[in-house]
Amino acid sequence: MDNLDLHNDLTIRDYQEDDYDEIVKFWFLTNMGNPERGDNRETIRRTLELGGKLILMESKSTKQICGTSWMTYDGRRIVLHHFGILPECQGKGLSKILLKESLQFVKNMHTQVKLEVHSTNVKAINLYQKFGFQHLGEYKVYIIRDTSNL
Ligand SMILES: CC(C)(COP(=O)(O)OP(=O)(O)OC[C@H]1O[C@@H](n2cnc3c(N)ncnc32)[C@H](O)[C@@H]1OP(=O)(O)O)[C@@H](O)C(=O)NCCC(=O)NCCS
Repeated sequence: MDNLDLHNDLTIRDYQEDDYDEIVKFWFLTNMGNPERGDNRETIRRTLELGGKLILMESKSTKQICGTSWMTYDGRRIVLHHFGILPECQGKGLSKILLKESLQFVKNMHTQVKLEVHSTNVKAINLYQKFGFQHLGEYKVYIIRDTSNL
């Protein structure tokens, strides 16, 4: 499929519960499915109830998921995560379509948006900067994954 046909074949829609199994496969293929993160069907459901959004880019003809963008909202800011394009569809400009749609949601919510990206992920950094994200100083990121000892 050439680039124009590919773009015409794609649609962006909201996640539905029965997409979950495909999403998990997609996140594995795009290296975004680290089990340590503790994300599951319930986490997604909760974030949507709290006003977040998970959008999928999908092929109209094959129904294959080609991209995901998960925006969680804590009442203060939106955090963009799990933003990715299927490896075989990368390099064709699809991330720009998905990010534009994601930022439309941000705009409608009238909040700031934040994300974390690995310092070596040049493609993603270039993309985010192109869309106006600015590097937030020299902050380090900390997390407690295991709360059993708290
Ligand atoms: C990051 C990612 C979403 C970019 O999608 P993509 O399909 O590869 O990129 P696109 O073809 O849509 O290009 C979008 C922009 O990304 C940047 N980019 C893409 N390929 C690049 C490369 N090889 N080198 C540097 N920048 C690149 C450019 O800014 C490009 O815009 P331009 O073509 O106008 O210059 C994709 O590589 C991906 O899913 N990676 C795995 C998951 C991931 O790391 N997600 C980010 C988590 S924070």
